[in-house]
Amino acid sequence: MLNIAVFISGRGSNLKALERAIETKELDAVIGLVVSSDENAPGYLWAKEKGIPAVALKSTDFQSRDEFVNKMLSILTENKIEFIVLAGYIKKIPKEIIEKYRHKIINIHPALLPYFGGKGFYGINVHRAVVESKAKYSGISIHFVDENYDTGPIIIQVPIPIEPGETPESLEKRISSLEHKLYYKILRLFTNGNILNCLTKNDK
Ligand code: GRF
Repeated sequence: MLNIAVFISGRGSNLKALERAIETKELDAVIGLVVSSDENAPGYLWAKEKGIPAVALKSTDFQSRDEFVNKMLSILTENKIEFIVLAGYIKKIPKEIIEKYRHKIINIHPALLPYFGGKGFYGINVHRAVVESKAKYSGISIHFVDENYDTGPIIIQVPIPIEPGETPESLEKRISSLEHKLYYKILRLFTNGNILNCLTKNDK
């Protein structure tokens, strides 16, 4: 069973969808830790209430960057985390974590990267930019995480057409519900170890 950490910053609807897939045995994993960048994030409060180990880690609460990164590394190690799933985490992942978990961190982005991605493209901002651009499609991108925002190798993209009269809010709703159906299925590719083993071998 893959022991995952889910990193969040807000609502946590993807976190809830992952937990649901675990409960219904559609995903052979355990959420060993939730890391939130905000102690008031609804997703973080939900995880705590549910008894899922959860920690709020804010870089500004630490004296130095090193202290913050060391805390993050040690808490992942203490909880024996094997894989990291970003689900609405809006902070940059420190390079030390990326190095330790190379090819073992994935993110879901609510648009078709490389468009409408990067710093500042999160939440409703993404959908507003898509609708204003008059693009014909938006969609979902799931990708490995590297040192920059939204630039890591893409694992899968699923397009959806923009409907007539689409608003940022209606688009967000449709994309969100698709995310909940898709994310755990992609994560499932990693749970039997095959992809992870192959990536580790190629890295050597
Ligand atoms: C999702 O749209 C995801 O694609 C993006 O952030 C949003 C998180 O939503 N990275 P939620 O907190 O899981 O509801």
